[in-house]
Amino acid sequence: MPGLRIVVAVTGASGAVYPLRLLERLRRTGAEIHLVLSRAGEKTLFLETGRKAAELKALADHCWPMEDISAPLASGSFRTDGMVVAPCSIHTLSAIAWGISSNLIVRAADVTLKERRRLILMVRESPFHLGHLRAMTAVAEMGGIIAPPIPGFYNQPSTIEDLVDSSVDRVLDLLGLADEDVRRWSGPPSAAGRDRVVSNNPAVSNNKDQSSADASDPESDECADDSD
Ligand SMILES: Cc1cc2nc3c(=O)[nH]c(=O)nc-3n(C[C@H](O)[C@H](O)[C@H](O)COP(=O)(O)O)c2cc1C
Repeated sequence: MPGLRIVVAVTGASGAVYPLRLLERLRRTGAEIHLVLSRAGEKTLFLETGRKAAELKALADHCWPMEDISAPLASGSFRTDGMVVAPCSIHTLSAIAWGISSNLIVRAADVTLKERRRLILMVRESPFHLGHLRAMTAVAEMGGIIAPPIPGFYNQPSTIEDLVDSSVDRVLDLLGLADEDVRRWSGPPSAAGRDRVVSNNPAVSNNKDQSSADASDPESDECADDSD
């Protein structure tokens, strides 16, 4: 059975590490990944991680230029199983909220909503003013899911990777693509069993870097091309 087809859009909010981790983990599920990266997203990726767009694109199966409004993702007739904007800037959130589909990210999000598919926005800003909150409310009223990268601490994170995974776990759950690394709360620790809180799977905490080897294995010529 083919994997799910997932659209991942990356915008210029802080948190470029989120799409990196999300794509690494999505790849392992066998999902067909379609990636769109905004100019600001590309800039923030470099400022925050030192990585170039090509490294992110290498994790996707298909990459589409932000300006390519004729890409398949711009049409509801192109079947997808969901879309994640990670991270989602206030600029892109607002455009989605009010239907200003002037680029492929906003158009693809609009299509996802109109086709009643799952749209997940990892909105990142702080603090929020009333306009931000209204935009999030508007998207939620249309069926979108507002999933800011706000980590939980109940699993006792000890690294930045743990904090990032805390939010990525929930996004994978929302997509129905939870992998073996997903951590869940399974009740308070007993005196003898603290591991119960840290992870359901004892192999998880020793397995954190396994996916990074996939990053150097681009499977698509489109994604290898960084010229767009
Ligand atoms: C280092 C850096 C961090 C930023 N962080 C945020 C942020 O957390 N949230 C946000 O909404 N915009 C943030 N911005 C501003 C956006 O990049 C800017 O509004 C941009 O126009 C968004 O465009 P896009 O939605 O097409 O990616 C940041 C910009 C930079 C350079």
